[in-house]
Amino acid sequence: MIADGALRGDELPSVGTEVPGPRARRWVERLAQSECPALTARRRRRAELSGTEHDPIVWTEARGACVRDADDNIYVDFTAGFGVAMLGHSRPSVIAAIQRQSGRMVHALGDVFPSDRKIELEERLSAAAPWPNAKVILGLSGADGIEAALKSAVLATRRAGVIAFEGGYHGLAHGPLAACGYSARFRQPFAGQLNADVAFVSYPAKGDRAAIEASRQGVARALATGRMGTVLVEPVLGRGGVVEGDGEALGRIVQMAHAAGAVVIADEIYTGSFRCADGWCLSGLSWSELPDIVVLGKALGGGLPISACLLRDEVAVAWGDPDGEAVHTSTFLGNPLACSAALAVMDELEDPTVRASVRAQAEAFWSDVIEPVAGDDRCGVLGVGGRGLLVGLRLDGGLRRVLAVMRAMLERGYVVLPGGVKGDQLTFTPPAVLTDAQRAHGRETLRAVLCEVR
Ligand SMILES: Cc1ncc(COP(=O)(O)O)c(C=O)c1O
Repeated sequence: MIADGALRGDELPSVGTEVPGPRARRWVERLAQSECPALTARRRRRAELSGTEHDPIVWTEARGACVRDADDNIYVDFTAGFGVAMLGHSRPSVIAAIQRQSGRMVHALGDVFPSDRKIELEERLSAAAPWPNAKVILGLSGADGIEAALKSAVLATRRAGVIAFEGGYHGLAHGPLAACGYSARFRQPFAGQLNADVAFVSYPAKGDRAAIEASRQGVARALATGRMGTVLVEPVLGRGGVVEGDGEALGRIVQMAHAAGAVVIADEIYTGSFRCADGWCLSGLSWSELPDIVVLGKALGGGLPISACLLRDEVAVAWGDPDGEAVHTSTFLGNPLACSAALAVMDELEDPTVRASVRAQAEAFWSDVIEPVAGDDRCGVLGVGGRGLLVGLRLDGGLRRVLAVMRAMLERGYVVLPGGVKGDQLTFTPPAVLTDAQRAHGRETLRAVLCEVR
């Protein structure tokens, strides 16, 4: 039941104050007292670069496609909260599952005495995986899932070297950070603590023959060292610029890795769970040979923090007999609340009607918003990339313009984020619950902002 005056989620934007408004400003002043200065510094830098303020709004409510801020402004969230609210914020089935579970138990004993919910979720994920008898390691964040995948790969191959891709982003814990091709600046301060044996190669972007060939050669060279046990790849670069990988080239890379005794991790944290509109685990890419490990996160928990590392049985056996100790676990492993939320998300996304509606939403987002804007010469769009509900527009004017557009969109009631290695993209990962009116209004707002901000 939605309380009187609460968001429904199908509203059009309504912004009645400056952005941020006076209440948000007070919150942000308080935030500055306790928040790590890295985040304040980022806002300052964005403001300097774009000539527009980048103080945040403060979210107080979120439902469906909408969020409300501390000043009672309503926004349409074209990010779905970093891609998490794929089925809309506060999806009723997810909230009901959390409420039911919270009446019974909110915490269990991880790997020692698991909850019934954790067992159910692992069964469901194993059945959804692309290989028979798949095994599961749950985590709390995407980075956690990648850590589990990297550890599994090194156990299976006894080789610590990792092949990663330029532009790739896998989270910022030490394991994934070492393989962060998105930004060398993220790695540099921590270099002394990171895996030094990472080979970065070109990403095999669909339609880019030179990149595909450079990628093949880079992978071959790295594998020839005999030190590489892992290839870690996103089927569509997300944060690194919404670049779709070439399905055939990715399949060939898997074959090369297998021939050299290495395992392949498909990072489907962003692309999976139907964000790319085609499947749970492999986002519909026609891999001519399957990867060995798939990592899911973000949308999997419907808003609760959970990730899953799915392992081919042959890789999972490498964990062997841990001598009576769990060598990879954590206090909150398989948290029952998060598992219940993920089960509700899986119920929804395994329903053919919901799947059809996600596909229809993706088609409508491209035809109603992306294509008309990208095709309008006045908008200064240099390129469009992506798949399903993961879309990037590369803007003429680079990072400076992207930041100014992001801010102007916010002032008109739309949440969008910058993306790409150079920050020259506007990224859209909308929830699959937008109304026709929200899409039409969003398109006209985006068109007007792009025409104004040059
Ligand atoms: C492809 C991909 N992998 C991993 C991560 C890291 O996930 P988290 O931020 O939950 O650690 C992200 C986050 O954006 C991602 O996009």
